[in-house]
Order: sequence, then C-alpha cells, then structure tokens
Amino acid sequence: MPLVPQHIKDLRPYKPGKSIEELKRELGLSKIVKLASNENPIGVSPLALQAMHKALTTVNRYPSPDAYELRRALAAKYDVKIENVFTGNGSEGIIAAIMRTFLLDDEEAITSHGSFVTFDVQAQSRGIKVIRTPLKDYRLDLQAMAERITPKTKIIYLANPNNPTGTIFTVSEFQNFIKKVPERVLVILDEAYFEFAHDAPTYPDSMQYRLDNVITLRTFSKAYGLAGVRIGYGFAHEELIANLMKIKLTFEPNTLAQMAAVAAMEDADFLEQTLHNNRIGKQFLYDLFKKVGVQYLESYTNFVTIVFESEKRVNTLFEKLLKEGVIVRPLKSFGLPNCIRVSIGLPEENEFFAQKLKKVL
Ligand SMILES: Cc1ncc(COP(=O)(O)O)c(C=O)c1O
Repeated sequence: MPLVPQHIKDLRPYKPGKSIEELKRELGLSKIVKLASNENPIGVSPLALQAMHKALTTVNRYPSPDAYELRRALAAKYDVKIENVFTGNGSEGIIAAIMRTFLLDDEEAITSHGSFVTFDVQAQSRGIKVIRTPLKDYRLDLQAMAERITPKTKIIYLANPNNPTGTIFTVSEFQNFIKKVPERVLVILDEAYFEFAHDAPTYPDSMQYRLDNVITLRTFSKAYGLAGVRIGYGFAHEELIANLMKIKLTFEPNTLAQMAAVAAMEDADFLEQTLHNNRIGKQFLYDLFKKVGVQYLESYTNFVTIVFESEKRVNTLFEKLLKEGVIVRPLKSFGLPNCIRVSIGLPEENEFFAQKLKKVL
C-alpha cells in the first residue's frame, strides 16, 4: 500500500491569488492594487477590531468550544434556535466538516463546472466520485444537476450567488429543483455573497425554506470584512447540526474570530458602507466594460467576471495588468479559461484598474 493514497496524489489543490507582498517582491513595484480574492476593500469593522483587541488578553485560554455567544447572536438575528446554528473556520471549514460527517466512501457528490473549487478539493480528498454538470449561460444548471442524481448521490453543492461567475439561480429554478431532490440527499446552499444579493427580487433566500436536508452556509469573510480570522456559519436541521458538532475540531472557530463576528454583526454602519461601496463600484466597472467593449456577466456579488474570446487573450491581459501593478484572477483553475474575475475595490482602486485596463487593451 502506498503511503499517500492515489486520490490525494491526483488532487490538484486550490491556488489562492498572489499576495501583494509576493508581487511587490517579484516585480519591484511600489503600488499594487489587488482585486483578486473578493475581499472587503473597506477594511475591518471598527467594532470587530475593538472586540479582537479586548479578546487578545484571553488567548491563553481555549475558545468556547460551542461558540455559544456567537451562535446565540446568530440564532436571534435569523430567528432560529441555537441548535440550528453551526460555526466554523470560514465556510470552507464548515464544508470540510460536512465532508467528514456525512459522506461514506462509495457515495457521490454533484457540483457544477465553473463553481467554487474548494468544494471539489474537499470532496476529492475523501476519494469519492464528484459529478460536475456544465454551466448554462454562465449560470448553474439546476435541472441538469437534478438529472444526475443517482442512488449513490449524497451531497449536492450549490453556490448562490456562484463564484466565479457572480450569477444567481432564481426562486422558481430552486423550487423546481428541490422537488426533485430526495430527502436522503444533503444540499449545501453556499450563500457566501448573500448580503450583496438578497435584495434582488428573484434571489431565493434559503432561510425562507427551512428544509430538513438543506444546509445554508454564510460567512463573515466578505460583507463583514473578516476573511483573515476565518469565521463562517451555517443553518440546518438540529439533527444535522448536532452531528456536525461532534465532528468539528474541538476549538474551532478561534476566540478572536468568535468575538470579532459577534461585534461585526452589530456594526450596521460598516455593513452599509460596504454595500454602498460595492453598488457604486459595480456600476463603475459595468460602465468601464461597456466603454472599452469588454463583455461582462451581471453580478450579484462583490466581483465582476469578464469574458474574452480566448485563454490566450486572458493570459496576455493578466500578465500585462500584473506588470502595471493590478492583480486580477484568471479563471482557468475554475474551468473558465476565457474569463477574468475582478473584485470590486475602493473607488480609487477601481479607477487605477480602469486606467491600466485601458492601457493594456
Ligand atoms: C462561494 C464561496 N463559498 C465560500 C467561500 C469561502 O469563504 P470563507 O472565507 O468563509 O471560507 C468563498 C470565498 O471566496 C466563496 O466564494
């Protein structure tokens, strides 16, 4: 028997975008604008900062193992019981816990091409079969996904809005889909960009459905600006949560993350600033892309994906933008080699990107 199992040897890991420091070193640039990882460009909520400062003096102690205060606050905000709430090391950490808790070796998962790669990596790390349906007009094809359900299907992963396309599936598409999903199949509804999408009239907020086989995932990494402390949360039937609680790392999430999240939830001003910046930034990018004749996908998130005629064109533009000090995300590793994802930045960052894009085009 080999030391490393074959399915791990074969696994291609998710590669995050280059860091600002890395690029400064490599290219000897002084100004770099990073629009590559869908982070919050505003910064960190002042209330969350304060809470983390306060919590620093307690880190000689282990965190609350059941993240009691945070789960209580989330339960109150979303009008569910604490037993319906789960928290983890980012939604990514929760996806990992779901994989460990519910999957058997001969079961299958369904996801889409052109969707969030972390899910694939986690599923493959369990050595199970992962089925991927094609996107349809850059949107998840829920009908095709439902058609691929077999007696072995255990998990279906839906990111809504989807990363990296920024698109959504609608209320009626979801309602048609869920009718076709047997109750023995767990649906992960990853709503990492919920705050940016929930005002859209056709967006299905999964919390309105309260289905026993659906787990909703959300995160403090995006709208709440806490990507670096790793804190995500999920809602589901209490039986699912009770079993997840048995399997999660005992002291996940960490103390700073728990405290920061409780405070960030109370910082309505920060959230409003974030959403405002995103609205105007998105419109700025739409206008720019129209002006320079670049095709873009309508986005329900904090990024906009642009479409080119070929992978070659994408690579050239990406390299040229890098040399100009702008980091964006080419989407080959997400299965969309002719696309680039641009995170929405601060107005001056968007302006810098616009100047450089015009130059390199
Ligand atoms: C669809 C989706 N889900 C989950 C995540 C990860 O979020 P977290 O930072 O909470 O792990 C991301 C981050 O980019 C995402 O795009």
